[in-house]
Order: sequence, then C-alpha cells, then structure tokens
Amino acid sequence: MTKPRVVLTRKLPVPVEQRMGELFDLVPNPDDQALPQEALLDAVKTADVLVPTLTDRIDADLIRSAGDQLRMIANFGAGTEHIDVEAANRAGIIVTNTPGVLTEDTADMTMALIVAVPRRLVEGSQALLDMNGEWKGWSPNWMLGRRIFGKKLGIVGMGRIGTAVARRAKAFGLSIHYHNRTPVADQTQAELNATYWDDLDDMLARMDIVTIHAPLTPQTRHMIDARRLGLLKREAYFVNVSRGGIVDEAALIDAVDKRRIAGAALDVFNKMPHVNPRLLDLCREHRITLLPHMGSATLESRIEMGERVLINIRVVFDGHRPPDRVLP
Ligand code: DGY
Repeated sequence: MTKPRVVLTRKLPVPVEQRMGELFDLVPNPDDQALPQEALLDAVKTADVLVPTLTDRIDADLIRSAGDQLRMIANFGAGTEHIDVEAANRAGIIVTNTPGVLTEDTADMTMALIVAVPRRLVEGSQALLDMNGEWKGWSPNWMLGRRIFGKKLGIVGMGRIGTAVARRAKAFGLSIHYHNRTPVADQTQAELNATYWDDLDDMLARMDIVTIHAPLTPQTRHMIDARRLGLLKREAYFVNVSRGGIVDEAALIDAVDKRRIAGAALDVFNKMPHVNPRLLDLCREHRITLLPHMGSATLESRIEMGERVLINIRVVFDGHRPPDRVLP
C-alpha cells in the first residue's frame, strides 16, 4: 500500500515528526511559522491528509479548492473553530482533533491562574526584580492579596477540562459551582460536591472566581458580554484559558479598568496573535495577568497530541472510523 501524503502546516515535536516520517509520505514545515495561504492552497491540492493547527484558517473556500485526493484534516489540537467542519463534511473530508491528552495540563494552568491572580504572584515576582537587591524585607501590609480557600468557583463549561479544574479547585478548598448544557453524572457531582446552575446569569452573580472552559461555537461567541460581566461581584476574578472569542474583550477590559471586577487572567485573546494594547497596559499595572496561550504547552501534551493525530490518520487509512472524529 502506498503511504498517505501528509502535510504538516507547523513544525511538530521531533519524536512526532520522526514517527510520522516512518509511517507516512511526510511533508513537514521546517519553519516555526504558519504556512502562507498559497502553500496551504497547494497542500490541499496535493495532500491526502492535512495536519493544521489553530493558527491556520481552514475555511469553506480553501476546502472547495481541495483536490479529490484530500481525505482527511487531522487537526493538531482539541479546538476546531478554525476549521469549517460543515464544509469539510459536505466535501466528504474527515475532520479529527486531539481531545483528552491536554486536559490535565490545561487544568493545571487554569488552577495556577486561579491562585496567581488573587495572590499577586506575577506582581510580587516583578516587584522583587524591580527592587534589584534593595528589598527591605517582610512587612505586615505589603503585597496583600485575597484568600482563595473557602471561596466560590464558577466553572462555565463542565467538559473534560472544566471537570479536571473542579477536582483541583476542590483540593484547594474552593466550593464548586458550574454551568453546562446538562449536569454532569451524579457520581461526579457527588465526588466534587458541586452545584449545578441551569441559569448562567444566576451563577455569575454569586461567584468569587469565574473560569471559562467551553468550546468556541456560534452559540458561545461573546457568551460573556458586557451585560453578563456586569452581573459579577466587584470582588470577583475572571479567568479564561479556553478561547478569546467567548468573551467580549472590550467589555472585559472596561470591567477591569473601571474596577467593576477585581481582576482577570487570560491565556487567550480575540484576534490572536494580536493582543489589545489596553490589555497590555492593564497587565503592566498588574490588574490583569496575561499568558501567550500556554494552557497545553508541555512537552508531554504536545507529543501526545501528535500521537493522537498519528493514530487518527492510521485508523482512517486502515479503513476504520477514527477515534476523534469531529462532526458539524
Ligand atoms: C487546543 O488544543 O485547542 C489548545 O488550545 C491548544 O493549546
């Protein structure tokens, strides 16, 4: 059997590319930057499998330009909002993703931010650097943050990552509240001692910390808008490690700037890689903590994401249904 031609749009971890090179007719991208549009167009006309990432835009136009040979779009990543899955499906192209393998690392990063913001972690570290060896020592009133133990955490989206965050947060002494389309299984709800809120507005108004773990879809775009941000308590913190588009970024900036909420932490932005300069200003003032989309950035996650891509491709070319098929 001839090996499928697999085009990578980004440089993937070395062991992943090595294994793919053994199994497939691999066309890697040696530059660590997104493929230009012409190269992407060329890829869909020649590849059997395209392996994109969230930095590519695989829209209906690109899918229409694909040759008949394109059998599969095997995304390196869990989120697929950058792929027109419906157009791919119509064209008979299978779309897969890599769920599950980045859950624990993304939940760790979320928990780190849930602690870092109220406890002023980044600000404290920066203050020490700024003092350049001139620190006068401990003081009863210096760098006081807010306690997180005993506070209420509101999780918006209780899928794999939301649930993994809940487990960590419970161990930190937070009480777990969540909003989801449906409640989680009774056993999970009991294990987490979690409260389900059918009405998102009601939950938001009562939480001390809110964290977002929903996929970006037409239904969730700007789900957290100015009105909903206005429901948050003045002492509340807001964390988003999922997708920037779920939040109306301008409204969030206003809420923090005008001190209508206590602070925020963001790992994702509206128009990445662009970061709104007002966010950067608030970050310099330590009223917002910003990270450059690092939720799944561990060697382990990235290798396992590559392994999922590889498994999905092999299963499809063995004539079976791939484990991580994404449907419209
Ligand atoms: C994903 O897999 O969608 C993540 O956001 C990548 O970090």
